Amino acid sequence: METLQSIEAVRAWRGSGELGFVPTMGALHEGHASLVRRSAAENARTLVSIFVNPTQFGPNEDLAKYPRTLEADLKLCEQAGASAVFTPNNEMMYPPGFCSWVTVEGLGDRLCGASRPGHFKGVTTVVSKLFHIVEPTRAYFGQKDAQQALILRRMVRDLDMPLELIVCPIVREPDGLAMSSRNRYLSEDERRRAVGLSKALFEAQRLFKAGTRTAAVLRGQLIITLDEYVDKLDYAELVDADSLQPVTEIAGPTLIAVAAWVGGTRLIDNVIVAP
Ligand code: PAJ
Repeated sequence: METLQSIEAVRAWRGSGELGFVPTMGALHEGHASLVRRSAAENARTLVSIFVNPTQFGPNEDLAKYPRTLEADLKLCEQAGASAVFTPNNEMMYPPGFCSWVTVEGLGDRLCGASRPGHFKGVTTVVSKLFHIVEPTRAYFGQKDAQQALILRRMVRDLDMPLELIVCPIVREPDGLAMSSRNRYLSEDERRRAVGLSKALFEAQRLFKAGTRTAAVLRGQLIITLDEYVDKLDYAELVDADSLQPVTEIAGPTLIAVAAWVGGTRLIDNVIVAP
C-alpha cells in the first residue's frame, strides 16, 4: 500500500483504471473498514483519503481535539484492502486566498445543518475537491451520516460529476451503538448511556413494524427513551428519506434521525423505515 502526501503524487499514481474512493477524517474504525472492503471488492484499486477538514467544523466544535491516529489508520486501510492512502494537509487543500465553495441549497439547512451552520458547505467543498483530485470511478459513504450522503448524492447529480456514489449500511457495536470516531471521547458512564440513541431508534422501528404510522407518536416515544439516556437532545425527526421534509403520516421511505449530546460529545444515528 502506498502513502501519497501531495495532490501531484495522487495524480501521478492515479492512471486511468477503475478506482474506488473512500474519503475519511481518520480515527478509523470498523465502519470505515466496511467501506474500504466494499470498495476493494468492487474496484481494481482503492484509495482512502485521511484529512480532518477544518472547513466543516464550527468555531466551537472539536477540530483541535479531533482524534488523530495515523499509524493505526494506515494499518486498518492496508488490512481492509486499500491500494493507497492520501494524506493531504491544510496548506495544499486550502492555499492562501482560497475563496471558492460548493453548496447544495436547502437540504443542508435542516437536521444537523440547523445546529451546525456551514458544516455541509465545508463537506461538499472538500468532497468536490477530493473528487477532482482523485477522479474515482466509485465513491463510498456511510448511511451513518444520512444527511451527508443525501446531500453528496444530490451534488453529484446536479453538477454531473462523473462517478457512482455508493452508500453503505451503518456498522454498529454489539449493543447497537453506531460506530463513530467520536465514541473515543466517551467516558465509561457516557459510553453506557450512548446506547440510548440506537435503543430509541430500534424501538421506533419496532412500533412502526407493529403498525404505528403517525410521526408524532413515534417521535414521542423516541424522546421518552432518549431523555432516559442522553444529557441533551439536539433533534429527533421523521423526514422524507429523499427530500428531508418532515412527515406527519409515514407513507413512503422515511428517515428517522436523532442527534444528542452525551456529556460533551454530540452523537448522531438513524434508521430508515418504509411501508
Ligand atoms: P468520517 O466521519 O471519517 O467518515 C468517513 C465515512 O465513513 C463517511 O462516509 C461516514 O458516513 C462513514 N462512516 C462513519 N461511521 C460509520 C459507521 N458506523 N458505519 C458505516 N459507515 C460509517 O464523514 C466524514 O468523515 C467527512 O465528512 C468526509 C466525508 C470525509 C468529508 O470531510
